[in-house]
Amino acid sequence: MAGKLDRRVTLITGGGSGIGQAAALACAEEGNTVIIADSDAEGGGATLRQIKDKGGEALFIRADVSKTAEVEALFSQAVKQYGRLDCAFNNAGIEGESTALAESTEETWDRVLGVNLKGVWLCMKYELRQMLKQGSGAIVNNASVMGLVGSPTNPAYTASKHGVVGLTKSAALAYARSGIRVNAVCPGFVQSPLTERKFASSPGRKEAAIARHPIGRLGTPKEIAAAVVWLFSDAASFVTGHTLTVDGGYVIQ
Ligand SMILES: NC(=O)c1ccc[n+]([C@@H]2O[C@H](COP(=O)([O-])OP(=O)(O)OC[C@H]3O[C@@H](n4cnc5c(N)ncnc54)[C@H](O)[C@@H]3O)[C@@H](O)[C@H]2O)c1
Repeated sequence: MAGKLDRRVTLITGGGSGIGQAAALACAEEGNTVIIADSDAEGGGATLRQIKDKGGEALFIRADVSKTAEVEALFSQAVKQYGRLDCAFNNAGIEGESTALAESTEETWDRVLGVNLKGVWLCMKYELRQMLKQGSGAIVNNASVMGLVGSPTNPAYTASKHGVVGLTKSAALAYARSGIRVNAVCPGFVQSPLTERKFASSPGRKEAAIARHPIGRLGTPKEIAAAVVWLFSDAASFVTGHTLTVDGGYVIQ
């Protein structure tokens, strides 16, 4: 396989399902060596097999991105195996619960912020350390349209995604002269296991979500993966600190 990202070593967190899996497959198709990190060994193993079946090079490492020791072990194994890290997609994330802030729980706050925000911060820390040694790298964080606009019923998730946008801009500024670009994608609602779980919790919810997208449908994981591949590629060499909406027009209303 050869393409826009030929021979680059790319880490994808949450690569065992949905958007992360599509990004892992897309990067492999572009010629990347892909490191899939996921807390779910079954999903991570499935992505690994799909890449290897197509002749790609990949490694699966089980890791919970919210746990420092597991993230340290992830990076030490990845660097030991490949010696470098060119690109990283910090994508692992979980949905919150649909409640107004006054009814929301501390447990949900800690869990959602732990994975969606601390997890991105922790992974970025180790990615940046390696990329600084190399003097090059590209990071893409998976935020959401909920990182750009408010949501009346999902305060922890929305706060976590606004935090991801803030981390992205701060790191982009800090490392702009070090050869490292840091960007975020902000997907609208995408057809994935995450949204399927949310839609299953109340009838009519999927139709309501579709109606909020001017384009008249949900996105696909592949459409988000295509944006990630572009942000990683040399075609985006002057793009840093950008929050790229891939949302069927969700936030322009
Ligand atoms: N699906 C959407 O509509 C949508 C929209 C905007 C943003 N996003 C974001 O995209 C990302 C991926 O979402 P998805 O829809 O593909 O979800 P998904 O549930 O299909 O996949 C998420 C993956 O992350 C892994 N994961 C969860 N917690 C983890 C942890 N602590 N450590 C390591 N891996 C962990 C899961 O095992 C799973 O493989 C999330 O950050 C989500 O917030 C999704």
